Amino acid sequence: MTRVGLGGLDYSNGHLDGPNLVVSGDNLPVLRAIPDETISLVYIDPPFNTGRRQTRQTLHTTADPDGDRRGFKGASYRTVAGRLSAYDDSFGDYWAFLEPRLVEARRLLAAHGTLYLHLDYREVHYAKVLLDSLFGRECFLNEIIWAYDYGARARRRWPTKHDNILVYVKDPRRYHFDNAAVDREPYMAPGLVTAEKAERGKLPTDVWWHTIVSPTGREKTGYPTQKPEGVLRRIVQASSREGDWVLDFFAGSGTTGAVASKLGRRFILVDNNPEALAVMRRRLASVTTPVSFVDAPDEEIEALGA
Ligand SMILES: C[S@@+](CC[C@H](N)C(=O)[O-])C[C@H]1O[C@@H](n2cnc3c(N)ncnc32)[C@H](O)[C@@H]1O
Repeated sequence: MTRVGLGGLDYSNGHLDGPNLVVSGDNLPVLRAIPDETISLVYIDPPFNTGRRQTRQTLHTTADPDGDRRGFKGASYRTVAGRLSAYDDSFGDYWAFLEPRLVEARRLLAAHGTLYLHLDYREVHYAKVLLDSLFGRECFLNEIIWAYDYGARARRRWPTKHDNILVYVKDPRRYHFDNAAVDREPYMAPGLVTAEKAERGKLPTDVWWHTIVSPTGREKTGYPTQKPEGVLRRIVQASSREGDWVLDFFAGSGTTGAVASKLGRRFILVDNNPEALAVMRRRLASVTTPVSFVDAPDEEIEALGA
């Protein structure tokens, strides 16, 4: 049985140990090298259209019980995925790229673990239907709307100024969710509540008003798709504990790692863009716990503990 693997990750005692990791390369073989049920929180913000660039394969699935797709709800997943990809080819390509990665993400989640999938209005409705059948509808926890107000305004339709974050738990009876650990926010109408309540602030709901990363602010790394630390902070605070492993396998500028380390969590980040890796090296240089920068395996390596 393999006990020490990728970047010095150690599974000798039946739990995952080792340094924080930043891995350069395609995320799929990296995911396959991580042991089952060791990660508390997965946050991903995948780029749309990656499927078309990275694979030419389109998802044509049918309800074949002997098929080799690894959906969790068997025929129902295959039927839904097949219908959706017949309806929209570009989504089929995208999902063919994302699906095996989501299957791995689910495998890696501990029983108390949670997946946050950050999308926008173009993909979210398809993805909800597919994730319901991949995880099970009972595992859907929330759809978070991250609302911002920045940039040009369309004139021929309502300007779209929000992203959607789908939240799924591995096990609806055992998941970790600590709303008391989340930073509270100011009441919209503080005059309507007691001074004490106004002072404490209110718990966030599933609609989060938060500015984008300011083009002139301290947080800005220059990476074009960088997400604000404030959004990740809530996610990490609510859905993990100190010392837990947090995984982001479309890491970009490393926002998830920066937040995880500030909150005392351990992290694994993966990205295949050298520019992202350069940004993460700079950004994570001040992290107090050790960080190892390693290359992804060229091909599949045996998962720790397998
Ligand atoms: C939308 S960005 C993520 C931005 C990130 N949330 C942040 O705050 O900076 C998506 C990232 O996924 C990476 N990516 C795309 N395909 C990948 C793959 N197959 N393996 C690893 N990373 C990939 C891209 O290089 C890009 O940096």
